[in-house]
Amino acid sequence: MKKITIAVDGYSSCGKSTMAKDLAREIGYVYIDTGAMYRSVTLYALQNGLITSEGINTALLKEKMADIKITFALDQATGRPLAHLNGVCVEQEIRGMEVASYVSPIATLDFVREAMVQQQRLMGKEKGVILDGRDIGTVVFPDAELKIFVTASAEIRAKRRYDELTAKGMACDINDILKNVQERDRIDTTREISPLRQAEDAIVLDNSHMTIAEQKEWLMEQFKRVTNEN
Ligand code: DC
Repeated sequence: MKKITIAVDGYSSCGKSTMAKDLAREIGYVYIDTGAMYRSVTLYALQNGLITSEGINTALLKEKMADIKITFALDQATGRPLAHLNGVCVEQEIRGMEVASYVSPIATLDFVREAMVQQQRLMGKEKGVILDGRDIGTVVFPDAELKIFVTASAEIRAKRRYDELTAKGMACDINDILKNVQERDRIDTTREISPLRQAEDAIVLDNSHMTIAEQKEWLMEQFKRVTNEN
């Protein structure tokens, strides 16, 4: 069967990665979590003192971009991809609140986006990939055969993030998470470069009241429909 490119875009914490990961595993595609890439750049900036109370040292971060290598390796136990920053697994650190509170401003920087988009296009050039992010269907792969735009209410998304973090044993406050979700929505949709928006040819999925199993089934149906057409 001919391989296609699948773009899953949408708001933060709306379950894009869960559905994308599951579909990738089922159909034998490579899954690329592009949010993890922006999160890894943010972690690098934090670890190297490039984010201080004065703000982001953009000049130095720009110089250092060539030193930032982001890769994914499959977790042998779960079969899920783990983000690596310069060869070190950072999956845990990039999901914490510190990275979450700085990632949107980092993702607005033109040189960061250029570097990430270039890497994403390389990773997906052979097709047979499913990427999730904000600009996949609009900028990274505007010719993707299947484009999904996922949305859910901010309150439901905050609750999902809260459950995810507490299940991992990470301390957090639901109100802080809701504020963070709303602030990230604002920055992601209003930034100048590649703002989050629905591609004209994307199919919208509001999963506020859907279970993970229902979303999975819905996505599989879309995949089958598009691969039958192509
Ligand atoms: O999907 P996520 O919550 O892990 O994404 C983290 C941040 O990265 C989010 O605030 C927006 C940004 N991002 C982006 O600008 N472009 C992408 N393709 C993916 C994520």
